[in-house]
Amino acid sequence: MTRGAVVEFRNVSRHYGAVVAVAGCDLRVEAGEFFTLLGPSGSGKTTLLNMLAGFIEPSGGAILIDGVDVTSIPTEKRNIGMVFQNYSLFPHMNVGQNVAFPLKMRRAEKATVRKRVDAALELVGLGAFRDRMPNQLSGGQRQRVAIARAIVFEPKVLLMDEPLGALDLKLRERMQMEIRQYRDQIGCTVIYVTHDQGEALTLSDRIVIMNEGRPVQIGDPEAIYDRPATRFAAEFIGETNILSLLPKPDAGWWIEELGAPFAGSVPAASGRGALLSVRPEKIMRADAVGAGPAVRFDAVVAEIVFSGDIHRYTARCAGGKTVSFKEHRTGRGDALKPGDKVALAFRLEAAVPLPES
Ligand SMILES: Nc1ncnc2c1ncn2[C@@H]1O[C@H](COP(=O)(O)OP(=O)(O)OP(=O)(O)O)[C@@H](O)[C@H]1O
Ligand SMILES: [Mg+2]
Repeated sequence: MTRGAVVEFRNVSRHYGAVVAVAGCDLRVEAGEFFTLLGPSGSGKTTLLNMLAGFIEPSGGAILIDGVDVTSIPTEKRNIGMVFQNYSLFPHMNVGQNVAFPLKMRRAEKATVRKRVDAALELVGLGAFRDRMPNQLSGGQRQRVAIARAIVFEPKVLLMDEPLGALDLKLRERMQMEIRQYRDQIGCTVIYVTHDQGEALTLSDRIVIMNEGRPVQIGDPEAIYDRPATRFAAEFIGETNILSLLPKPDAGWWIEELGAPFAGSVPAASGRGALLSVRPEKIMRADAVGAGPAVRFDAVVAEIVFSGDIHRYTARCAGGKTVSFKEHRTGRGDALKPGDKVALAFRLEAAVPLPES
């Protein structure tokens, strides 16, 4: 079992003329960590991976693997495996030849090639497919071959750029579980790119949210979801209600959209007000909120969306704005209808103050 390497980006940037693809990025990925880059299209995720793999050069800064500056070391000497979004198998080679390719490039001995290819194909469950051609495989099978090819030379770092993007939902979910298992078995550092936030939350030890070539927030999935650091992070991961907290003229604080008082702690720097992020699943009917401090408010149901196991509601509040909230379907026939008046609430700790940005 290979142990993963530590990967560091130190003030790494990449410009294309006036376009800043990556802007002064500082990141440290620990050995054996499953680290995910999550961000909207164009936020610099692929550019970061390509610089780490050595396919493109940074405009500035340094990239280190296990403490060694690799910025000017060629790709093939970096010992990095890579899986792309669209399989990219060699169409004229069969499965066994595809997987053997990186070993042949490294001039491995025949017996070693045979042994490692067998082991890699076994790991991805394709032991019996060695002689098939890529065009005789399903999408999921092709992507497994691509993974086998990326891990066959036992890299210390495995890069995956949206490896499941082309697969349907069911297969994606199965492959997610498989990728986690491979990682546990191989022990290498995985740097994974996705713009699917559910996938990032499911797979990762830590996530970095990227925006416009910069890290916005780094943390484990729970911290990223429960304590978003900025409005962008709150809105990018999952759904949220952004509410405005304003000082009341007399004393205390007020949530404008809800027309409801707020008795929680308010960030020190927010003399004139602050924004709060409240996830839809944290808003519930007032009688379900339990004891303890909560924000309570009245609303009128505006819209219902049925999505299988839950109902998503939009409700208009006294402050004139709408909030969204979710309820699991109980089957007891107590779902709300448009026009219903409803008393809603969320616990104080469900409201995360955001810097006003
Ligand atoms: N060769 C290039 N020439 C000019 N601009 C480029 C080039 N490659 C990337 N860019 C720009 O750099 C920015 C970052 O691109 P990158 O491919 O890293 O984004 P990404 O986060 O991987 O996006 P996606 O989720 O769509 O794959 C984008 O604005 C893109 O247009
Ligand atoms: Mg990309």
